[in-house]
Amino acid sequence: MDRKKITIVGAGNIGSTLALLLARRETADITLIDINEGIAKGKALDIMEASPILGFNAHVVGTGNYEDTANSDVVVITAGFPRKPGMSRDDLLFKNFEVVKSVSEQIKKYSPNAFVIVVTNPLDVMTYTALKVTGFPKEKVLGMAGALDAARFAYFISEKTKISVENIRAFVIGGHGDDMVPLKNYTTISGVPVTKFLSEEELNKIIERTRFGGGEIVQLLKTGSAFYAPAAAILEMVISILWNKRKIIPCSVYLDGEIGEYYGASGLCVGVPIVLGRNGVEEIIKLDLSEEEWQQWKKSVESVKRLVEKLHL
Ligand code: LMR
Repeated sequence: MDRKKITIVGAGNIGSTLALLLARRETADITLIDINEGIAKGKALDIMEASPILGFNAHVVGTGNYEDTANSDVVVITAGFPRKPGMSRDDLLFKNFEVVKSVSEQIKKYSPNAFVIVVTNPLDVMTYTALKVTGFPKEKVLGMAGALDAARFAYFISEKTKISVENIRAFVIGGHGDDMVPLKNYTTISGVPVTKFLSEEELNKIIERTRFGGGEIVQLLKTGSAFYAPAAAILEMVISILWNKRKIIPCSVYLDGEIGEYYGASGLCVGVPIVLGRNGVEEIIKLDLSEEEWQQWKKSVESVKRLVEKLHL
């Protein structure tokens, strides 16, 4: 049986961690591409040399040439500049726009039927960039954010309540920026509302920490941003698509007013809960938001909109 093919653009920390995670699950054969060909080849070879011990049969190859990425089923864009301490994700806008634009042109040329998962920041605007430049259907271009933000939210809840992470279902929507919207009303522990376990003050502290979760790691690392949790979040999305799991995962997707009565956002990509399956975005889940959440959502969407307007795409 032919294996699926996944291309990861960028062989940095996220790209290489993701390659190892995907290979271990034998999800597909993987092409790791980087402008620094040696890094892509070296990391791919290193992963393959782990395969006899870890026992996986997926093939990982490194390259600097887009021809080797041809006919990928999924392309994950991790390439771009990470932020440094003191910077916001939005400060990366113009530099990373050029990167994502040129990568998207190559994807369009070599893998016209691929799903595209965007990881580069500022996430929502880079997802929009990939959508516009590739011209791919809106169901097939997604940004990875809610999966990561919800994982952080869940971990912090688990840390505080001392209840297994496996029991926690957390929800975060909105832009992947400092005003993202963690939804406490949709966050549960084994189906029980999280508000039964934590006081409002405790929850608010956790929500604040979640909003700045990426920045907390940037402050600690000093020379880059998070990669283990982002790679895990991408893995969840890829598997949901390739194995048609139809998981509900908040992802940044293009909203065109279809669900305007709930979200009021249109003409941009921003994080909403979707059913993710073999067709990509199979359904957008409508949520009732409280007045407070609704205000936060509007603020988050406005921030994304301001960035999109700077780009003239
Ligand atoms: C994250 O949330 O870890 C990423 O968006 C990277 C960053 O700069 O925070």
